[in-house]
Amino acid sequence: MEEYWLKIFESDLYISEMLKIWEEGEKWAKWINEVTKKYNVKGNKVLDVPCGIGRVSYYLNKLGYNITGVDISEKMINKAKENVKQGIFIRGDMRKLSEVVKEKFDIVINIFNSLGYYEEEDDLKILRELREVTSQDGIVIVNLENRDFMIYNKPEILHSFVPPFLIIDQNRFDPYTSRLYVIRTYIKDGKEIEKIEFSQRYYSLHEIVNLMKKAGFKILDVFSGYSWKNFEINDPQMTIIAKPN
Ligand SMILES: C[S@@+](CC[C@H](N)C(=O)[O-])C[C@H]1O[C@@H](n2cnc3c(N)ncnc32)[C@H](O)[C@@H]1O
Repeated sequence: MEEYWLKIFESDLYISEMLKIWEEGEKWAKWINEVTKKYNVKGNKVLDVPCGIGRVSYYLNKLGYNITGVDISEKMINKAKENVKQGIFIRGDMRKLSEVVKEKFDIVINIFNSLGYYEEEDDLKILRELREVTSQDGIVIVNLENRDFMIYNKPEILHSFVPPFLIIDQNRFDPYTSRLYVIRTYIKDGKEIEKIEFSQRYYSLHEIVNLMKKAGFKILDVFSGYSWKNFEINDPQMTIIAKPN
C-alpha cells in the first residue's frame, strides 16, 4: 500500500468500529432489496465495493443475493470471508476494479462514505470502474455523507465510545479543497493506544452527480440514507441510485 494512512483499515481498532455498526447492515440490505424491486432489477448478482467486513453483504446474502466483495484491506477481506461463507471476497483496489473482477453485476454498491479517500480524479476513475462492472440493465447505489450538512454539523472535537476504545476525532475542514482533516486518537483504560491522521474529500450533491454523469451513469433518484425520503440539502447522507447511460 502506497498511502500511509491506509493502514487504518488494517487495524483491529477499525474492525471494532465496523463491528459497532454491524446491525445497520441489515437495514441497508432490506432497503437495497426494496430498491431492486422498485427499479425492476432482474438478476441477483451483487458487487459490494468496498465491502469492509461484509456487514451489508451478510444480510443481502441471507435475502438470496449472490455476493462478490472487493476491499483493499487484507484484514477486512479476511473478516468478510469469515462472516459471509457463501460470498466471494477478493482483495483489490477499487481504482483498478475491472482488473480484479471480470464479470458484470446487477447491483453494485459503494456505501458508507467510501469515496473521497484519494483525489477527485481517483473518484472519477473509481466511478468509471463501477460503471464498467455494472450490467447494462443493472443499477449502482452510491451512499455518501453530505458535505453541506457536514460543514455545519460536524463538531471540531468528536468523542465516541467503540468498546473497548474511546475515540477522539479532531476535525478540521479545509474549504479550499473540500477535505476534512481528521486526527483520530484511540484511548483504552485512560492510555493513548494510537493516533492516526487522514483526510477525506466531501461532496455536495451536484458535485458527485456531475462526477457520476461524467463516469457514464444516468441518475435515477437520490434518497436520504437508506430511506425513501427524497434527499434534501440538510440531510446527513445522500444515496444516489443510477444506471449505466
Ligand atoms: C468506511 S469503510 C466501508 C465499508 C463497507 N462499505 C461498509 O459499509 O461497511 C471503507 C472501506 O474502504 C476500503 N478501501 C479504501 N480504499 C480502497 C481502495 N482503493 N480499494 C478498495 N477498498 C478500499 C477500506 O479498506 C474500508 O474497508
